[in-house]
Amino acid sequence: MDPVRNPYSPGAGRKPAALVGRDDALRAWATALRRAERGRSDQPFVLYGLRGVGKTVLLSEFRRNASKRKWIVAQIEAGSGKTLRELLGEALYEPLADLARPSAGKRLLKALRTALSFKASYDMIGTWSFGFDLSASDGDGGGADTGILDTDVRRLLRDLADAAEEEQVGMAVFVDEAQDLDVTELTTLCTIAHAAAQDEWPLLFAFAGLPSLPRILAEAKSYAERFQYSKIQQIDETVVAEALTIPAVQEDAQWADDAVALVVARSGRYPYFLQQYGQETWNVAAGPVITKHDAELGIAQGNHQLDTGFFRARWDRATPAEQQYLRAMAVDGDAGSSSGEIASRLIRKPKSLGPTRAALINKGLVFAPEHGMVAFTVPGMAAFIARQIHP
Ligand SMILES: Nc1ncnc2c1ncn2[C@@H]1O[C@H](COP(=O)(O)OP(=O)(O)OP(=O)(O)O)[C@@H](O)[C@H]1O
Ligand SMILES: [Mg+2]
Repeated sequence: MDPVRNPYSPGAGRKPAALVGRDDALRAWATALRRAERGRSDQPFVLYGLRGVGKTVLLSEFRRNASKRKWIVAQIEAGSGKTLRELLGEALYEPLADLARPSAGKRLLKALRTALSFKASYDMIGTWSFGFDLSASDGDGGGADTGILDTDVRRLLRDLADAAEEEQVGMAVFVDEAQDLDVTELTTLCTIAHAAAQDEWPLLFAFAGLPSLPRILAEAKSYAERFQYSKIQQIDETVVAEALTIPAVQEDAQWADDAVALVVARSGRYPYFLQQYGQETWNVAAGPVITKHDAELGIAQGNHQLDTGFFRARWDRATPAEQQYLRAMAVDGDAGSSSGEIASRLIRKPKSLGPTRAALINKGLVFAPEHGMVAFTVPGMAAFIARQIHP
């Protein structure tokens, strides 16, 4: 069928034509937004799960829902080598520029001045212009440039939340790949989130990250236990078919039941794989009804695409020594392996493999589900490794 009309969207963070199976999380978030607008606070949301399950698109949907209600939003992604200061500053400029106006209320003007000082705390040269002279209006604000991260971020977010309240909305901060923040940064955000929840600032946080995130948060701050954790997983059996059928109907096409069933089964109900198989199947199908035969071809094509893209990109990120380690893990499938067992497979002392293991965790290829264990962050990675021809 016409590839121009192909509605499927495999790819990191790409918004699916139909976001299915996330109603509970979306409902909880919608409730939190409305509660915050009434002065009731909530603990941060934490979305965690394997690669490709849909954490980023869910986080972005949270952001869209907040934006629709005219909230002040900042979405950042850790792990790019930038500091939390830079990330927050960059994410805030546009939303603030949208809000800034000479006739703004006192608290918004104060928050803008604080934001300017925050910008100055990491960027000595550049400053922000909001199109009018902020220094002309009297009033306080500023002071988010002490150089102490906790003080500066707290002042920034508190003043922004205050300004949001003045506008009868709230402020929301979204942090993707949160496991990649350094410990000080994560601790800072946790402390501020906790203060916000206690003191009822209209400030909501949502964190997304790998399955190790809950443990990392707990280690950063003990009260992170109270955060609202949602494990993002494969799409529920009852609705998974809709990820394929709804986008097709919107483009005047249909899936035969056995074709849907086949793609659903082969995808393991993982969102990324559903999108990849859906896309390939669409392209091979003559239409308007997508048949089981189309699905068989699409899955074969899709597997090829996954092997050369999704899996290969991760594999190539590992050094030869790290690839050895991953191969030793692959023996156990996706279930996870004991570090000690891997060492004995590689005929090495467990301690000597510590740096390799740490490097793989740093690269986001594996995580530690519990002490002494490692598992792949990418579903299907073990099978991919088993398919490779080894030198
Ligand atoms: N609920 C959903 N319904 C249908 N498709 C989805 C859903 N969630 C995600 N997808 C699709 O799955 C793919 C992966 O989504 P996303 O990038 O959000 O995953 P992720 O969990 O953030 O992965 P990573 O850990 O690699 O960042 C995208 O192609 C997206 O369109
Ligand atoms: Mg993501």
